[in-house]
Amino acid sequence: MPSAQKLAQRMAAWLPQGEGLVVELGAGTGVVTQALWARMNKVEQLWVVERSTDFASHLNMKFPDVNIVCGDASDLSVLIPARPVDIIVSCLPFRSFSEREILSITRQWHSVLAPQGIVVQFTYALNGADKFLKYGFYEHAHEYVWRNIPPARVQVLKASRT
Ligand SMILES: C[S@@+](CC[C@H](N)C(=O)[O-])C[C@H]1O[C@@H](n2cnc3c(N)ncnc32)[C@H](O)[C@@H]1O
Repeated sequence: MPSAQKLAQRMAAWLPQGEGLVVELGAGTGVVTQALWARMNKVEQLWVVERSTDFASHLNMKFPDVNIVCGDASDLSVLIPARPVDIIVSCLPFRSFSEREILSITRQWHSVLAPQGIVVQFTYALNGADKFLKYGFYEHAHEYVWRNIPPARVQVLKASRT
């Protein structure tokens, strides 16, 4: 089931003020993309990566002015030429990924993010702030969105300093 608009809006609320490079991962039918698009001053600074070819073509039709890339988030640094990324908005289903996939994707986050960049990720797991710690990200903030089916938690992650 696509995310509720409320969840999409709470994720989009973390967009930087003014300009900034934004990457969305796992857009599906585009609920979160729509919320990001509506808040962007320069929509050409929004890049969307979606693995499914069907969803990617749907997104291309729905958002002709957005950079839609059909590909895997584990190839992010090759798929997205623009740098550095100010915010990654991730709708990826991490709970269904293997350790290897998570490691590969989070390495890509480290490689493209600006030093002060953030990752905004939603999860249906309402507890457990430390999931991303071993991949070099800590939870800077979180928010519950009850008006979603199922209720979700928006996590804002920052790269740990080593
Ligand atoms: C839970 S859905 C979220 C869809 C939409 N953003 C929403 O919130 O309703 C996850 C999406 O991530 C895509 N996806 C899954 N694994 C991916 C990967 N490794 N790289 C890019 N997209 C992926 C799926 O095709 C699916 O569209």
